[in-house]
Amino acid sequence: MQKRKLGKNGPELTTIGFGAWAIGGAWLYGWGEQDDDTSIKTIREGLDLGINCIDTAAVYGLGHSEEVVAEAIAGNRDNVFIATKCGLVWNSKGRTRFNSDPVSIRSQVEESLKRLKTDYIDLYQIHWPDPKTPVEKSWEVMTKLKEEGKVRCIGVSNFDVSLLEKCLQISHVDSLQPQYNLLTRDIEGDILPYCEQNGIGVIAYSPMLSGLLTGKFNIAKVAKDDWRKYGEQFKEPNLTKNLNFVESLKPMAQKYGKTVGQLAIAWVLKHSAVTSAIVGARHPDQVKENVRAVDFEIEKEDILKLDELSGSFLDTAK
Ligand SMILES: NC(=O)c1ccc[n+]([C@@H]2O[C@H](COP(=O)([O-])OP(=O)(O)OC[C@H]3O[C@@H](n4cnc5c(N)ncnc54)[C@H](OP(=O)(O)O)[C@@H]3O)[C@@H](O)[C@H]2O)c1
Repeated sequence: MQKRKLGKNGPELTTIGFGAWAIGGAWLYGWGEQDDDTSIKTIREGLDLGINCIDTAAVYGLGHSEEVVAEAIAGNRDNVFIATKCGLVWNSKGRTRFNSDPVSIRSQVEESLKRLKTDYIDLYQIHWPDPKTPVEKSWEVMTKLKEEGKVRCIGVSNFDVSLLEKCLQISHVDSLQPQYNLLTRDIEGDILPYCEQNGIGVIAYSPMLSGLLTGKFNIAKVAKDDWRKYGEQFKEPNLTKNLNFVESLKPMAQKYGKTVGQLAIAWVLKHSAVTSAIVGARHPDQVKENVRAVDFEIEKEDILKLDELSGSFLDTAK
């Protein structure tokens, strides 16, 4: 599978990464029940098909996703780039809150290392801005963790340009993880150009809008404890509008012999700032389909058409 360098000095990542949120199982922001054996088979299928990076987070399944990832890559650690995240902690009732305080980050990294059964993390990311901690304090400790070798690259997620600027005053930001897909394009204006200019790698999340852009999404099949039951984009009237948008993409997907999901992932990877798209999967068949998003090229005029279709959809949705 094609690889791209993460930012100005990072390692080479495959353009498709494995997203491990859904395999965390049931919790407050989970995707309902998930069988661990199926998750392990799914991750291994992805690795066999050439994927070299996995994105997880401490909070996914309240630690469970990291444990499942560890099991899936047992005996294969050095061949896989593991990205995980800190900054969201939970209490005994499973309620989460932001915490990127330096003391907490130090203890969070130790917990992740234990769950991941490893002595280093390839990419450690602050999951969301913490309104209660000055970002400089958090970034200083992230920088120290890198110097100490506990983590090899450091990044952030869901940060805007002003927060990135503050981090860059202290040390290089290896990557940003933003949401990016045909229906979430607000980062195109300032964030993506800023990352490109400053050598910050971009690992795009939810390239198929958490399943909505697959062309197969059916809300009736979504478990009642799946966060999507309450997600804004999955509620009416948005859901019907979004699914109509997906229908409008089907003729183009058919032209290439692809699914809408594959077209949606390929479109994300067309942006020159993007290093990799992290694609979630809960079943081996899904990962098999998703990796085939990278074996074709969308023609220039079709890129323009997709930009136009999504642009006019987003304008009317405002
Ligand atoms: N940093 C952050 O704040 C943040 C936020 C969100 C996500 N992320 C990361 O990005 C990763 C990917 O995002 P995501 O999981 O939200 O969304 P996504 O990759 O857009 O969609 C993944 C979901 O779509 C469905 N799916 C996948 N392949 C399919 C296929 N071939 N056919 C039909 N359905 C398919 C699966 O759910 P069903 O089968 O249940 O429909 C799967 O869980 C996450 O796992 C996580 O690592 C990070």
